[in-house]
Amino acid sequence: MNTIISPSILSADFANLERDIKLIEKGGADWVHIDVMDGHFVPNITIGVPVVKSLKKITNLPLDVHLMIENPDKYIEPFAKAGADILTFHYETGVNIEKTITDIKSYGAKAGISIKPKTQPEVLLPFLDKIDMVLVMTVEPGFGGQEFINDCAEKIKFIKENSKRDLIIQVDGGINDKTAQICKSYGANSLVAGSYIYKSPDITEAIKSLK
Ligand code: DX5
Ligand code: ZN
Repeated sequence: MNTIISPSILSADFANLERDIKLIEKGGADWVHIDVMDGHFVPNITIGVPVVKSLKKITNLPLDVHLMIENPDKYIEPFAKAGADILTFHYETGVNIEKTITDIKSYGAKAGISIKPKTQPEVLLPFLDKIDMVLVMTVEPGFGGQEFINDCAEKIKFIKENSKRDLIIQVDGGINDKTAQICKSYGANSLVAGSYIYKSPDITEAIKSLK
């Protein structure tokens, strides 16, 4: 499987989202990573359903929606109907995981589950054969531009060893050309990068260097 590159528009210019999404499209991005934050699950507020709905109209790239919100189960339907192709929620929210996965899939979206830096990967064992993607956070969720936490990346190995089928193992936080190599060597097959891509003088080259 080729590495799926999902640039995070959290580092894009919110006044020019269409322009900035065209840039990553042209640069060879596979997905668009959209960070949804509610000011409760994480100390930041970002994007909601109406923005996802608008972005759906201007790109054919799959929308990879990362829900950093409390009660994600309440918002599966609106985000799915707005055009989310991949919906990832957090293990730490305490929702009924099996039900939330079933719900996401009922809308034809891919279901992902994410763990924060302090959550151990073992908690995911009962769900690994039911989900499409695991998202390993390598920074505390909430903000772009933070430093990669090496210890978190080792969780990828555990998930890889314990997943049977072609599970997508995505990594998010502090990804650049160097940390990407570490993650890929552990078995990651999807990388999210915000500041590395959007702060680069050559977005196409930056995406290429991650692949
Ligand atoms: C952080 C978000 C990330 C963020 C990554 O909570 O989930 O997707 O945009 O930003 P960088 O790549 O700058 O660490
Ligand atoms: Zn994210």
